[in-house]
Amino acid sequence: MTDPAWEAVDAYFESKLLGPDPVLDDCLRASAAAGLPNIQVSPIQGRLLHLVAKLSGARRILEIGTLGGYSTICLARALPENGQLVTLEIDPRHAEVARANVARAGLSAKVEVRVGPALETLPKLEEEKRGPFDLFFLDADRPNNRAYLGWVLRLGHPGSVLMVDNVVRRGEVANSTSTDPSVQGVREMIESLAAERRLKATAIQTVGKKGYDGFLIARIE
Ligand code: SAH
Ligand code: DHB
Ligand code: MG
Repeated sequence: MTDPAWEAVDAYFESKLLGPDPVLDDCLRASAAAGLPNIQVSPIQGRLLHLVAKLSGARRILEIGTLGGYSTICLARALPENGQLVTLEIDPRHAEVARANVARAGLSAKVEVRVGPALETLPKLEEEKRGPFDLFFLDADRPNNRAYLGWVLRLGHPGSVLMVDNVVRRGEVANSTSTDPSVQGVREMIESLAAERRLKATAIQTVGKKGYDGFLIARIE
């Protein structure tokens, strides 16, 4: 569900605020050609992720849910010279497309795409002491969002920033009787947040070419 006015406003801000970006255009083309679903963050949302990474001065970023690497590129471009981004993806085909897109963006030295269910690759990251991470972007399977929140606390530090995509789901997040496992996953994550004094959070509802949804933004205190 979207609205012509929301799409027109997205197009307007894209044209005025973003400027040409052949690398991201290629990323979208290659992802579509490979048959990946068209569910990456929108261009102005990608800019939001980029700005949050810049504003927070993140040096180490952890993303869960890579798809074709669109958000990965937006985030990795914000890293300083010695910065690192690890992105976790369950689907080897998505990961392969993402690696190629990241390489075309000239970001291979900063980005590592790890294949596997995130709940299996996260413990390995901890064993390898790859953290702590300064910024997290959760954008994978919503039913595991509560579990991912636990990993954010394990792999983060005071001052780490957390962004979570798709927390509004056309308003369904406020429906306590929803039987959609994704909605339930988001609601469980919000319940955990409410009980977690180490995290200070807010959420912003968004409309645009991706319809009605929203981001959660939090900071480890
Ligand atoms: N962040 C991307 C979009 C991610 S779409 C962007 O905005 O450009 C969600 C991705 O999460 C899909 O590629 C899906 O395969 C992946 N995913 C789903 N379940 C997962 C899991 N358990 N572990 C890791 N990745 C998962
Ligand atoms: C879907 C997943 C996303 O991460 C998103 O931003 C939009 C839609 C989906 O699975 O439909
Ligand atoms: Mg998403």
